[in-house]
Amino acid sequence: MSRKTIIAGNWKMYKTNVEALQLANQVKIKTKDIRHTGIIICPPFTALAAVAEVVNDSAIAVGGQTMCVEKEGAFTGAISAGMIKSTGAIHVILGHSERRQYFGETDELVNKKIKTALEFGLKPIVCIGETLEQREGNITAEVVTKQLRGALADLEPQHVDRLIVAYEPIWAIGTGKTATPEQAQEVHSVIRGAITEWFGETTADNLVIQYGGSVKPENAESLLSQPDIDGALVGGACLKADSFSAIIHTAEGLKR
Ligand code: 13P
Repeated sequence: MSRKTIIAGNWKMYKTNVEALQLANQVKIKTKDIRHTGIIICPPFTALAAVAEVVNDSAIAVGGQTMCVEKEGAFTGAISAGMIKSTGAIHVILGHSERRQYFGETDELVNKKIKTALEFGLKPIVCIGETLEQREGNITAEVVTKQLRGALADLEPQHVDRLIVAYEPIWAIGTGKTATPEQAQEVHSVIRGAITEWFGETTADNLVIQYGGSVKPENAESLLSQPDIDGALVGGACLKADSFSAIIHTAEGLKR
C-alpha cells in the first residue's frame, strides 16, 4: 500500500493574521522532525499568503477552506481558485458540512468547484458525511455514497488521483463525540469500495481518505490505526500547536 498518512488542520473562522503567523510558526517548529506524514494547514483567506510564506521552507502545505466556483468576475467578496493558488496554497477544502449547512452548497456545486480547482492546479479535500438522523436511520452508507457520486460526477481516475476525501460525520464535528474507530473504518471502506467500482482499484488504493470529527491527541492513534483511515481533518485540536503536532506525531509513529 503506497498511501501516505496526511493530517490536515481546518482553522475555520479563527485566527487574526498575527495569531495565524504565530500558530503556523509553532506548528513548523514542532513538526520539524516529521518525515513520513503529510501536513496541511488551512487558515482563513486573510492569512493564506502570509502563512504560505512562513511554511515555505518546511514540509507543511497550505490550503484554502472553500472557494468560489467562478473563475473571476463581479462576485463581491468571493475568492477564486486562481487567487488561492497565487498565495502559494496547493489545497482547498470543498463541500465541508458547514458550507453545505450555512451556505447552501450542494453536491452539484461541489462537483463544479472540484473541476475548477483541478483546472487551476489545486488539490481538493472533498468532505462528505451524514447527520445524526441519517446515522440513526441506518442510511449512512447510502448518504455518503450519494454525496461522493455527486461530487465526483464526470471525473476521470486521473482527476480522482489528485483528491483527498474526508469523511466527517456531522454529528461528530465540534461536538466532542467521535465516531468509534470501527464506525469510521466501516464508512471508509464503503468509500474505498465505491471508488474501486467507479474509478478502478489503483485509484482506490492510492486515495487518501481522512477522518474528521473531534479528532484529538487522545483518540488519534485508535482512529489512524484502522486500515482505511489514512489521516485526519482536524478542527478544534488544530488551533493549538501542541495538540495538532501531537496528532501528527501519533501518525508518524504509526507510519505505514
Ligand atoms: P472538529 O475537529 O472541531 O470536530 O472539526 C472537524 C472539522 O470540521 C474539520 O473540518
